Amino acid sequence: MLDTSGTLVSEKRSNPNKDSLRGFEVIDEIKYALENECPQTFSCADIVALAARDSTVLTGGPSWEVPLGRRDSLDASVQGSNNNLPAPNSTLSSIITKFKLQGLDIVDVVALSGAHTIGDTRCVSFRQRLYNQSGNGVPDFSLNPAYAAGLRTKCPSSGGDQNLFFLDLVTPFKFDNQYFKNLLVYNGILNSDEVLFTQSAQTMELVKLYAENNELFFEQFAKSMVKMGNISPLTWPMGEIRKNCRRVNHH
Ligand code: HEM
Repeated sequence: MLDTSGTLVSEKRSNPNKDSLRGFEVIDEIKYALENECPQTFSCADIVALAARDSTVLTGGPSWEVPLGRRDSLDASVQGSNNNLPAPNSTLSSIITKFKLQGLDIVDVVALSGAHTIGDTRCVSFRQRLYNQSGNGVPDFSLNPAYAAGLRTKCPSSGGDQNLFFLDLVTPFKFDNQYFKNLLVYNGILNSDEVLFTQSAQTMELVKLYAENNELFFEQFAKSMVKMGNISPLTWPMGEIRKNCRRVNHH
């Protein structure tokens, strides 16, 4: 959330984040309202965890209790952001390894990927699949040809990098298990989505399970979100409660 300032370089500049991350104005607005009512009490980290839960509920998904008490970091790491975030063209094994390094298992990988039931992706994040998946000028075999043809009209082989596409082509504004149903018919837009169905028997079974059983997906998503939210939180006496999520407090 920090912007670049002085010697601090913002994680917004890392490869996976640049020209991608958005919605900071929503966090700023929540922070502003909270600081007016109850100053220096709610960290930006807790606000993001709560906003993730509430946006899930508002779009029709499950609810869960968010453990609070995270504090905000005094620093940022572009290198950490570059190294630890999986890319959209990652192989399944590289995604699983990155999650594992954070204490998240295969069930968490599949369930949390279900967040792609809402939201958008830029053309540049999946273009390779439409034109040249393996460097031989041929589209990805595991992408539905009819879907690919439609995507090509607004995601040309060059230009239109920032054009936006739904991650879930059927119910893009509803938090549901449609994402998993899409994967069964090769309508996953990102490589990192479709590989859950094509690259391992274990993840394929989980995709089928969540496609069949929305309840089970909701239950696991809630559990995995709490687990992800508990990845090495910064707690007192470390860190601070920022007054403005975009910059560290002046001491
Ligand atoms: C499994 C590894 C993951 C990869 C490789 C991945 C990759 C991506 C990419 C490439 C985009 C589009 C970004 C752009 O083009 O600007 C995206 C969007 C999104 N991702 Fe993921 N993601 C992963 C896991 C997750 C998880 C765990 C969550 C949350 C639980 C999540 C939630 C979202 C949401 C909500 C969007 C849409 C954002 C928007 O509309 O602004 N993703 N993801």
